[in-house]
Amino acid sequence: MKYRLVFLVTITVAFYSVNLRAVQSGASEPRTTFKQTEVITKTTNPFGWKIETASSVYQIALAQDNIVVPVYYGPRGQALDILKPGVKVDTRAGDTIQEVHLYQGQHGPFLELHNDRIKVYLDFKVGSTIREVPFRGGFVEQTPAVEVVFPDGTRDCELVYASSEIFEIDGFPCLRIDLKDPAYGLFVSSYIRVIPELDILEKWIVLTNKGTEPIRIENAQSGSVWLPPDEYDLLHLCGKWGHEFMLQRTRLTPGVKTIQVRGFVANETPPWFAVTPADQGSETQGAVWFGGLHWSGNWRLDFEKNFNGNVQIIGGINFWDTTWQLKSKEQFSTPKMVFGFAPDGMTGASTRMHTYIRRHVLRPKFRNTLRPVLYNSWYATTFYVNEEQQLALARIAKEIGVELFVIDDGWFKGRVNDHAGLGDWTVDKKKFPNGLKPLIKKINDLGLDFGIWVEPEMVNPDSDLYRAHPEWALHYPKRTPHQLRHQLVLNLARQDVYDYLLESLTTLLRENNIRFIKWDRNRPLSEPGWPDAPRSMQREVRIRFIHNLYRLIDELRARFPEVLFETCSSGGGRNDLGIFSRMDQVWTSDNTDPVGRIMIQHGFLHAFPAKLMVSWITHEDWHNVRPSLRFRFHVSMSGVLGIGADLTTWSQQQRDLAAEMIAQYKQIRPVVQEGICHRLHSPFESNRAALEYVSPDGSQAVVFLYNLWETLGGSTSSARASGTLHLRGLDPDANYSLTGDWQGTVDGRTLMNIGLPWFIRGNFNSAIVMLKRQTKQ
Ligand code: GLA
Repeated sequence: MKYRLVFLVTITVAFYSVNLRAVQSGASEPRTTFKQTEVITKTTNPFGWKIETASSVYQIALAQDNIVVPVYYGPRGQALDILKPGVKVDTRAGDTIQEVHLYQGQHGPFLELHNDRIKVYLDFKVGSTIREVPFRGGFVEQTPAVEVVFPDGTRDCELVYASSEIFEIDGFPCLRIDLKDPAYGLFVSSYIRVIPELDILEKWIVLTNKGTEPIRIENAQSGSVWLPPDEYDLLHLCGKWGHEFMLQRTRLTPGVKTIQVRGFVANETPPWFAVTPADQGSETQGAVWFGGLHWSGNWRLDFEKNFNGNVQIIGGINFWDTTWQLKSKEQFSTPKMVFGFAPDGMTGASTRMHTYIRRHVLRPKFRNTLRPVLYNSWYATTFYVNEEQQLALARIAKEIGVELFVIDDGWFKGRVNDHAGLGDWTVDKKKFPNGLKPLIKKINDLGLDFGIWVEPEMVNPDSDLYRAHPEWALHYPKRTPHQLRHQLVLNLARQDVYDYLLESLTTLLRENNIRFIKWDRNRPLSEPGWPDAPRSMQREVRIRFIHNLYRLIDELRARFPEVLFETCSSGGGRNDLGIFSRMDQVWTSDNTDPVGRIMIQHGFLHAFPAKLMVSWITHEDWHNVRPSLRFRFHVSMSGVLGIGADLTTWSQQQRDLAAEMIAQYKQIRPVVQEGICHRLHSPFESNRAALEYVSPDGSQAVVFLYNLWETLGGSTSSARASGTLHLRGLDPDANYSLTGDWQGTVDGRTLMNIGLPWFIRGNFNSAIVMLKRQTKQ
């Protein structure tokens, strides 16, 4: 066992820096009142580091033999300040820790903290691998972050402390701890960058080969944390095409629970998690550790629980069927793994993650801009696109208030259906004899921006590209290439494929006034062979693919900074922090049925903000409930509103309603896209769902109410219990004027404590209420 606490303590927070302010519970906008120098502090006797955020403490110690060990990660109020002798420790009996000692014990070094009555031990067995950067070597007690093979065949590693530095990256404090293998030239730097007001730690490692011969990396995870002993539940998202983002909650028992992707496509699960003590983690209460990964390729997150109740959370690139040859003088950097802590339940966790994505992940150019209302013609015209019919749609779209018109699949050479064309990114002259320019001009003249769909990572065997370069697709010469949607995956790890895509997409964007790209990816990997590469590089193919994908998008962004990007992968199959730092919004799901969407969006909003969540109104009705147009709008207006229906079939009455709804959306858009999201009612728990968004300054709020079906009054527990809707995150002492589908003036305390009556009746009915805080007299 790595560390054991001999007694239970709660530590007063009085000795912590006065400059730190907690994120208030009730999920209000986090503040930035941190003195950077006090976020990461070095401690002595023993040497170590303490990272303090608004609500959490992360402690690392340097134990004997220069080993770097994680000590504590959790709420501030319970932090054992073992690295600081003489601190006041408020045990239930009011004890004070007077001394901290580092001893060499029978089983190895251990820390002893004591006064005359109590003792706290933190011990490390000789050869223990409980480390800040766990590695393969010595005893195997936790999931390793570093697994390497040295040139002489040695597969064990030893990493000891070499140096450290506290510095800033983009204005945020960062701790770098350098570790080295005493026998070989391997150096590993472990980084922790801290966003203190959001209680977020970004962790990553960099491996450097200072030797003369290559070192084989068999695994390099981005970061690992240890949670204090407890009974924990894991929450994660899971799904399939059309059913993305279904929330799962499961108990972590001793052993390893892994969530992962092996074929790039992540409709099954995005790299996001939340872990909470089993009796906690409700929407508004309880401690929650949460996180996500900046990586769009294969990834894995492991949750390893030991018998004593500690849980190790570790994540990064999935090295399944992957190795990396680290040549002499070269470095390998892992993507960032994000860990966060919320003391105030799932809303606290998602508020921090949403804010982190909006403020620190999205690319700066579009961080503070609102997403446009778009029209996408895919559901109306599928592959059968032409200028006249697209213009007819664009005219109506403009009339009802749309801002961006997007042509989806079908516009490029040979694309008559999904059997052909992928790879040939030039305009289909049969469909657009004069190219796209005249169409774009007319659309721009209407006052609309123009956008287009591409799927650059793919190729149809029936394409000029494949006929010219069959070797550009991933393949093994003697294996059957599995096609899906009649397409193969291009080997973007190759420089020539990268060059080709950069060139053809640059030409497309340079020659046409395109302001929006929907970047799709419609199949997972299979046969990931790269026969032309040297043997030692062949298993690097998946990592090199993603490096080049990122390079490609980054270069296109640099060349065309005004273009907005939407990530799509057969619906919601690519949602991770790595892609969000490059693409500005997400096609959430191909399921546009509003009832299904309420559920999909409920899951999505646990991890990702509404500012990314694109939601269209179409004709789809998966449940055969004939939802009204108004209901459809109300569902899509809780994210980034889009329209996908065939507008030419809409009556004047429908267009008028659409115009009214879009105008209302534009009014509430800042609150929806930038606000704090409160999931008031889960559609998985009753026949109702409700969402509330509160603007960052608290002055406005929007509430969405959805009746899924109407049960006989009082016939179900939910019908008995949810006659009112309790709002959250308001100022109890302020009056709010309510407009929209419910009108009046009500104070925040009443709205939160007594609630708003659940005033809508009938199956698949809905309402929107807008709140404005009145200025105090
Ligand atoms: C995928 C996307 C859809 C649409 C089609 C076009 O399925 O998820 O939104 O773009 O491709 O072929």
